[in-house]
Amino acid sequence: MLLEVQNLKIDFKTHDGTIDAVHDLSFSIERGEAVGIVGESGSGKSQSVLALMGLLAGNARVTGSARLAPGSKGGAPVELLGAKPRVLRRVRGARIAMIFQDPMTALNPHLKISTQMIELLRAHRGMGKRAAMRAAIDMLEAVRIPEAARRIKYYPHQFSGGMRQRVMIAMALSCEPELLIADEPTTALDVTVQDEILELIAELRERSNTALLLITHDLGVVAGQCSRALVMRGGDLVEHGSIEKVFNAPEAQYTRDLLAAIPRLEG
Ligand SMILES: Nc1ncnc2c1ncn2[C@@H]1O[C@H](COP(=O)(O)OP(=O)(O)OP(=O)(O)O)[C@@H](O)[C@H]1O
Ligand SMILES: [Mg+2]
Repeated sequence: MLLEVQNLKIDFKTHDGTIDAVHDLSFSIERGEAVGIVGESGSGKSQSVLALMGLLAGNARVTGSARLAPGSKGGAPVELLGAKPRVLRRVRGARIAMIFQDPMTALNPHLKISTQMIELLRAHRGMGKRAAMRAAIDMLEAVRIPEAARRIKYYPHQFSGGMRQRVMIAMALSCEPELLIADEPTTALDVTVQDEILELIAELRERSNTALLLITHDLGVVAGQCSRALVMRGGDLVEHGSIEKVFNAPEAQYTRDLLAAIPRLEG
């Protein structure tokens, strides 16, 4: 078991009272496994994974537990919820990396990609500047950025949207995390680029046995990438099972509605 989330509850204090965003979410991920989270807008998908990373807004209150298995050096599991900033900084990027719908949330617009990638590799993998530069270029090549050695000197705005998404994936995977969290990584891209990016993630994951937690509106995408799916609605987990079960014998009416909304299922 890589990650075990139990009874995760998130609420937000606002001027108009308390918003219960996530009610009682429990799930787990094995090493190397891909799990999808689907659900309509506002169902609590993003806040659930932000809670794991310690990145919720200041008005959030979170309870429950999220235990990450001991790292390569052994020791005890790491409790992520309520962890000290120092502990979370060590986990983020190094053991759990996250990619977002908008790459600009992860990239610093004022720094060259080379500077950002080298900093990351030095901080998390203790590499020297030269080795980090080499590894960064290799990683950009792995996400198929043409002329990576030249383009690594670009600033984020010099890349197209799809290329920026590749850069963010390269950064996320450069520290060889055990878990990649992808929050709607392709929603902003056109369909052909979407497929390329998803294939790229699948290929890189296979190479390094990285587990994936994939958030998407699209059950079709989950079917292509994941072995298990969670379906959320209004902060509740309404369905949880293998892809086969969720597609062939869904328990919740809401899941059936989502399935009916997929234009055509193949296979
Ligand atoms: N800082 C905050 N204060 C108050 N409510 C918040 C805050 N952040 C998020 N919420 C609420 O939490 C709920 C869950 O939001 P979340 O971002 O997890 O939705 P989501 O499932 O990711 O939706 P989408 O598919 O649109 O990204 C929403 O009702 C949202 O308005
Ligand atoms: Mg979201």
